[in-house]
Amino acid sequence: MKPVETQIIRIVHPFSDIQLLAAAEALRKGSLVAFPTETVYGLGANALDLQAVKEIFKVKGRPADNPLIVHVADPLAIDDLIAGHNVLGAKLLKEFSPGPLTLVMKRGNQVSDLVTAGLDTVAVRIPAHPVARRLIELAGVPVAAPSANRSGRPSPTRAWHVIEDLSGLIPFIIDDGPCEYGLESTVLDLTGRVPVILRPGAITAEDIFDRTGITVISNRIEQSADSSAPRSPGMKYRHYAPEAEIVLAQGMDIESRAISVKKILDNLKLESDLGHGSVHENQSSMRISLFSCSQTRNASGYEWSPLYEQNTGSESLEPGLYYIDYAAEPDPCAAANRLFAALRRFDRAGIDLIIAETLPEQGMGQAFMNRLVKAAGGAGGKELNLEGLS
Ligand code: TXA
Ligand code: MG
Repeated sequence: MKPVETQIIRIVHPFSDIQLLAAAEALRKGSLVAFPTETVYGLGANALDLQAVKEIFKVKGRPADNPLIVHVADPLAIDDLIAGHNVLGAKLLKEFSPGPLTLVMKRGNQVSDLVTAGLDTVAVRIPAHPVARRLIELAGVPVAAPSANRSGRPSPTRAWHVIEDLSGLIPFIIDDGPCEYGLESTVLDLTGRVPVILRPGAITAEDIFDRTGITVISNRIEQSADSSAPRSPGMKYRHYAPEAEIVLAQGMDIESRAISVKKILDNLKLESDLGHGSVHENQSSMRISLFSCSQTRNASGYEWSPLYEQNTGSESLEPGLYYIDYAAEPDPCAAANRLFAALRRFDRAGIDLIIAETLPEQGMGQAFMNRLVKAAGGAGGKELNLEGLS
């Protein structure tokens, strides 16, 4: 690939169109533009420009059979992308758009096979992020955008993650600071008899039922059946897994999760004292990092040194115990917001073992645990090879 000069546009608030005009114009004319959304940063291309869409797959290193989400700013624009009118879709959009919800519906003729990877459905979303919406409005075209990471890396939730992955490969990166949610949108398939959540996100089945009375099911059952024809093609791709092994510290409350952290470390120490270092090396030669709230860390009975998420350089740390706290107390939204940033940080720091605190699978806890378990290579991740988040 020919190297490209990447212009980084740092949004100054209150922002005005002037800051976005050059990127919007380039986007409309076929260039790739990375932009912030409320979920993760997206890598946008004019969805009607086949060359631009092809470029997305090339730059990301993304398999051509993994379809893209088309982003629009206005619900009316969705009718141009789908076949006919979708009553259920309209009801859901009225309640949840703009926001972190992607709807899969029967596609219209305007949408290219490249975008949908040949499927007869198209995924659409109206992002809530003001910069994303204004960029799309100014571009005046639907914008196909996957997460702005190279395939096999975690989705970018800070602009410097995009710079890390795509600098020199695309002409524009718009930086508007950290994303609000930090995990990708809920993907809801409306093409079957019952709506199915293909990817959990900030909007849960309970939210949908509470606000619209519509019953949707989670695809967990479908996934565990190891279906050879997953409904979301992305499902079959292996999710990002960090270099380090991830061990989950499980338990219903802070106390029991802190005991779990302590046991994991005590066991490692015991193994190394007994000379059984083959699996885990031994504790004293490892770089171990905890990802939890500070209360859990404090209750673990071990001393830890902080790792700063913002540190962008690669470095080689001394063996020892490190941590990134997502918040003071258990909080699934804060944990979701920092997970991908922490995983990137652990890789840069050369961490060997990550101990991650689990959280109850309620509200944002569902999406958080889904990504954490996949990163750890558990059910739905490496073993079942059912991953959809490249
Ligand atoms: O929050 C998000 O959704 C972000 C921001 C940028 O909007 N985008 C994102 O895109 O996460 P991507 O490409 O990384 O993930 C899209 C997921 C993939 O798992 C893909 O397989 C699935 O949506 N998908 C796309 N079109 C589909 C379709 N027609 N049917 C089923 N699944 C589809
Ligand atoms: Mg992605």
